[in-house]
Amino acid sequence: TRSIRPLVAGNWKMNGLKADLAIGSEVAKGYDRALKSAVDLAICPPASLLYLASAALVGTRIATGGQDCSMQEAGAFTGEVSAAMLADAGATFAIVGHSERRTLHGETNATVKAKAEAAQRALLVPIVCVGETKAEREAGKAVAVVRKQLRGSVPEGSTAATLVVAYEPVWAIGTGLTPTAADVAEMHEAIRGELGRMLGKAAAAGVRLLYGGSVKPSNAAELMNVAHVDGALVGGASLKAEDFLAIARAC
Ligand code: G3P
Repeated sequence: TRSIRPLVAGNWKMNGLKADLAIGSEVAKGYDRALKSAVDLAICPPASLLYLASAALVGTRIATGGQDCSMQEAGAFTGEVSAAMLADAGATFAIVGHSERRTLHGETNATVKAKAEAAQRALLVPIVCVGETKAEREAGKAVAVVRKQLRGSVPEGSTAATLVVAYEPVWAIGTGLTPTAADVAEMHEAIRGELGRMLGKAAAAGVRLLYGGSVKPSNAAELMNVAHVDGALVGGASLKAEDFLAIARAC
């Protein structure tokens, strides 16, 4: 039995047109009583679909989230979407600091923290992503790297109600590779410990720590059973309703 209600969030990344909202309806159909009593679900479609997805999911208890947000409130920031806009479009969550943002868009820990703070100001729950590269793991630095990312990107004063953390080893994203259960256990324990030092033990104890990186139905049970793993952030497999539901059931 778990003390923390798990969350399985689907990150659609830059995938999805209106027709793909059918994935959401199918997930809603499969989100039955048993599953509802055990696990929270969220779908993070591209910003263009967020309002439609949120509207379609009203009454299903499936939340939605943005995949990023601006650190700014409003104004002359062409192309950016503010946290308040995501909230207005029905979102509950905002993913921030995904490795694709960190590497492809040069986001630093400071950027990620500012975005997480902007999300919290708009009453969204940021899903702050952290994770080491392959080289960093091979050098034995994985835990140190992730600790540093946490210290740099998690807002002070975050609580279990205002923060989710996702551990996504960069080398496991979209590759089919996953860390061993022992490596995930070591990392998630380290994350819980670091959050405890930053936020206080009581707050840190309730923060949901998701694992992300090549989660699929065949490995979900093993990964979700690791101590301090409170759900999953799912990329590729979240685009198939059946796979996404199978991962949810594994919690
Ligand atoms: O945010 C989720 C993601 O980065 C994992 O992607 O496709 O490996 O599940 P994937």
